[in-house]
Order: sequence, then structure tokens, then C-alpha cells
Amino acid sequence: MILLSPLILAVVLILLVFNTLARIVRKFWHFPMPEFMAPWIDNKYRHKYVQPPDVMAARHGILPGMKVLEIGPGNATYTIASAERVGPKGSVTAIDIEPKMAERAGRRLKEAGITNAEARVADVYAMPFADNTFDLCYMMMVIGEIPDMRRAVTDIRRVLKPGGLLTFTEILIDPDYPLKSTLIRKVTPLGFKVKQFTGGFVHYTLIFEKA
Ligand SMILES: C[S@@+](CC[C@H](N)C(=O)[O-])C[C@H]1O[C@@H](n2cnc3c(N)ncnc32)[C@H](O)[C@@H]1O
Repeated sequence: MILLSPLILAVVLILLVFNTLARIVRKFWHFPMPEFMAPWIDNKYRHKYVQPPDVMAARHGILPGMKVLEIGPGNATYTIASAERVGPKGSVTAIDIEPKMAERAGRRLKEAGITNAEARVADVYAMPFADNTFDLCYMMMVIGEIPDMRRAVTDIRRVLKPGGLLTFTEILIDPDYPLKSTLIRKVTPLGFKVKQFTGGFVHYTLIFEKA
């Protein structure tokens, strides 16, 4: 225990330094997370202690039979949980701007034997979907990475059905972490109202409803 404490302290300090440097770089240079980092952030500690995939699928407001859109699936662990939750009558479409990331997500869906979900390359600014297509759209650690939030949310609103849900999940360790108040201030004028908030400062889920 005596040895463990300095070790924990060292890990926390390294994370803090890395995070601060990343925040400074991200202030001036916006780019999508590189594909090789997907397994780093999608690790067993996150699944076990912070964001268990099945818990998150429920927390995102996903129900059986829903037609769900995910932006920026990364390693697709949460896409798989969402596909399991919507069941055979529902579907999940995951889009990513990075071809390698979409390819990785598609491969992982296939390996998991998921048949009601697909991953494809698309930009959230101009999605290849008809108006009023989806019941729910969710993004985990994605919105802060997108330079023009207004443009992204406007196109998400277009593809959501009337009364559709838009869910954001954020975690403080992400260098692009937005405050809950920032999301409310920027998203509500674009035709959404706050429906539900879960969590706290360190990590949270905020659900909006298309007004
Ligand atoms: C930090 S990763 C989050 C991965 C995953 N959601 C998770 O929580 O593990 C952000 C993802 O958003 C994607 N992304 C960034 N900008 C995008 C855009 N304009 N349109 C679609 N996807 C985008 C990135 O390529 C990346 O896969």
C-alpha cells in the first residue's frame, strides 16, 4: 500500500501533464482522433469502472425497436451494446469521418456477429440520410472534436424524427471535454430542449429532445 500510493500519484501526474498538453494543442489544431488510439480509450477499465457498455446503451435512452444513429463509434464497443439493446426490430447506423475508423468499427461489428448495425464513412456536417430518419442519435466523446458544433447539430436535427433524442456522453479526461452548460447554451437555440441529465462533472450524459 505504501509503495502503491506513489505509483498512483505518478500515474495521475503523468495523465494530468499529458491531458494539459493535449488541451493546449487542441485549442489551435482540430483533427479527428487517430485510428491507432481507438483501443487505448476503449479499454477494460473504462468498461468496468466508468462506462459499462450495456449501462451506457440504456443511459443513452435507447429502447428496443429504435432506429439509432451513432456519430464517431471509435472501436464500436458501444455500437455493439446499442445494437443488442435495439434488438432485431431496431437498427444502429454508425458513421465516422475517418475511413480507417469506420473500417475498424465495421470489422468489429462483423466479428461480434452483429447483423442489425453498420458502420460507414460520412461527415456529420452533411449526412447521406433522408430527413426524419432516426429515433435517436448519440455521440460519446465526439462533439468537442468537431470544430463547427452548429453545423453538426443542425444536420443531426434534420435526420432526427420529430421528438427524436440527441444524446451526448462526455468524460473529463478527454482533452475536448465540453461543460454541460456549454452544450446546453449551444444546442438549445438549434431546436432542442433538455430532457435528462445523468452523472456529474467527471463524466455525464446529457439528453436533448428535438423540439
Ligand atoms: C474520441 S473518438 C470517440 C470514439 C468513441 N465514441 C468512444 O467513445 O470510444 C471521436 C470519433 O469521432 C470521429 N469524428 C470526428 N469528427 C467527425 C465528423 N465531422 N464526422 C463524423 N465523425 C467524426 C473521429 O474520427 C473518432 O472516431
